[in-house]
Amino acid sequence: MKRMRLGVNVDHVATLREARKTTEPDPVTAAMLAEQGGADQITFHLREDRRHIQNRDARIISEMAQTMVNMEMAATPEMQEIALALHPDSVTLVPERREELTTEGGLDLVRLTDRVAPVVKALQNGGIRVAAFINPDTAQIKEAARIGFDAIEIHTGEYANAAKSEKDNALRTIRDASITAAKYGLHVHAGHGLTYHNVLPIVEIEEIEELNIGHSIIARSVFVGIERAVREMIELIKR
Ligand code: PXP
Repeated sequence: MKRMRLGVNVDHVATLREARKTTEPDPVTAAMLAEQGGADQITFHLREDRRHIQNRDARIISEMAQTMVNMEMAATPEMQEIALALHPDSVTLVPERREELTTEGGLDLVRLTDRVAPVVKALQNGGIRVAAFINPDTAQIKEAARIGFDAIEIHTGEYANAAKSEKDNALRTIRDASITAAKYGLHVHAGHGLTYHNVLPIVEIEEIEELNIGHSIIARSVFVGIERAVREMIELIKR
């Protein structure tokens, strides 16, 4: 059976470790166990403030992963240099503000095109596929295609947080954006706020090839272990 790729975001394991500034739990171990559970990809976000994933984690995960590695990062010279050295399979460019709890909105490519475009080119020249984490918005999709991104990751946070009465609308926006992006020749990924309870309508969108899920899987893994948590998500996203 064909199914979407599942990228498991292991940042939240590092968040727990950093709460005590100690050595456990180790996101590297989490990544290896997520692969045992069937994850197609390990995703991590190396933030400028290093609040969870550290350079050491990024390096060891990149060296040890048997599946694909997706590095989320801000479009800065420092991160560009690190990505080119680590050589993940893909980079997803995300916005960063220091005070935010997590990545709160999509990257505004229309506003930031001059800053983002050279980073995309440099990473692609280094043999890395590059995705833009954007809101499901036509202007952003067109700009992603114009810059030459390989893919977009649609921010599903608004759908995830929508009140019941607004869910259908939010879902339609994501579906329309997925169709538009595919028409522009972009691969389509989705992520943020996806859970065992809200992922199914997203799975039904044909154009979406990859999901990146962190919080919900890591939260469940506290009770059932990460291998089983990943396996349960994979069962759900078969289509
Ligand atoms: N995709 C991107 C680009 C993200 O920034 C995040 C959050 O780090 C995720 C996916 C995963 O979101 P969540 O932890 O809500 O599943």
